[in-house]
Amino acid sequence: MKVTVCGAAGGIGQPLSLLLKLNPKITQLSLYDVVNAPGVGADLSHISTPAETSAFVPGDKNDGLAFSLKGSQIVIIPAGVPRKPGMTRDDLFNINAGIVKTLAEGVAEYCPDAFVLVISNPVNSTVPIFASVLKAKGVFNPRKVLGVTTLDIVRANTFISTLTDANVSNINVPVIGGHSGETIVPVFSVGTPSLYAKLDADAKAKLVHRVQFGGDEVVQAKNGAGSATLSMAYAGYKLAERIIEAITGASDVVECTFVYLDESIAGAKEARAKLGGELDFVSLPVKFGAKGVEEIKYQILDQLNDEEKALFEIAKVTLKGNVAKGVSFVEK
Ligand code: NAI
Repeated sequence: MKVTVCGAAGGIGQPLSLLLKLNPKITQLSLYDVVNAPGVGADLSHISTPAETSAFVPGDKNDGLAFSLKGSQIVIIPAGVPRKPGMTRDDLFNINAGIVKTLAEGVAEYCPDAFVLVISNPVNSTVPIFASVLKAKGVFNPRKVLGVTTLDIVRANTFISTLTDANVSNINVPVIGGHSGETIVPVFSVGTPSLYAKLDADAKAKLVHRVQFGGDEVVQAKNGAGSATLSMAYAGYKLAERIIEAITGASDVVECTFVYLDESIAGAKEARAKLGGELDFVSLPVKFGAKGVEEIKYQILDQLNDEEKALFEIAKVTLKGNVAKGVSFVEK
């Protein structure tokens, strides 16, 4: 099992790589970054776990990206710039779009069959960029190109457990839509119906808002030094770990992730119809198998309560624009 992290020397990349190094199912951990990857690699390589660590920067052995990607089954991408106070994720578009495009070209050439987990923001646009590049190269596999929205689920679980004094280990709130502000729709009514029922309308509204804008709390607290890194590394690792379980034979892997609704995937046609044919990419619960997304669990769209339905309608408008922005970046 070879896993590559692109952006491995960054605030997310380093703790994410550490968590991956601890997973006994990973035999090769490959680190790529435009700077400092060899130092991070040397450091991690002293940890006494099976994963063999290698590290590359551009220009290494003529093409560091090629060496880091070749043979990878999973590529995780936290490369790019993070937010500063006052910035939205969309403000990152101009820099991160180009970075993601370059990495997509590398994946298309060196490991087109890998699972790709895109963390770089704005995820609502960077995943369409990634998919468009792979499509143009004729190697797009919609079952394996995923936007990482897991931090929204992690936050939803933490925030409702704190509010209700419940054991967070027993909570799993689906979060659907997209991954920025109002496109994030936590579905507490399905994930934790009994806890959610205890809250009054004001508490419910504040909770939803906190999940949608939880990233801002971290950006403000870091005061110019970046955005969520440790909680993001945890969330990115969680999704990667579940995918490794699916690759190695687990049959019960269902997670929310941001995907392209390709009609070859079971449930995608139904999801498209329920979304009024308006969205190509959306985050929904999906079932993973060894070859990627096996089924889109569109049924959740019928289970939303009235407030969640209203939130989803708002989410759709922004999400549609974000996706179009990513697609047109590649077309231009
Ligand atoms: P950072 O600046 O600490 O690290 C980014 C790393 O990417 C740096 O080491 C940099 O050298 C590297 N990099 C830049 N261009 C590259 C290229 N062409 N190829 C390979 N590596 C390259 O930033 P941080 O905090 O780690 O955030 C990374 C990204 O993750 C940002 O876009 C941020 O907005 C996003 N993010 C996503 C979240 C999510 O929930 N999906 C949550 C938090 C952050």
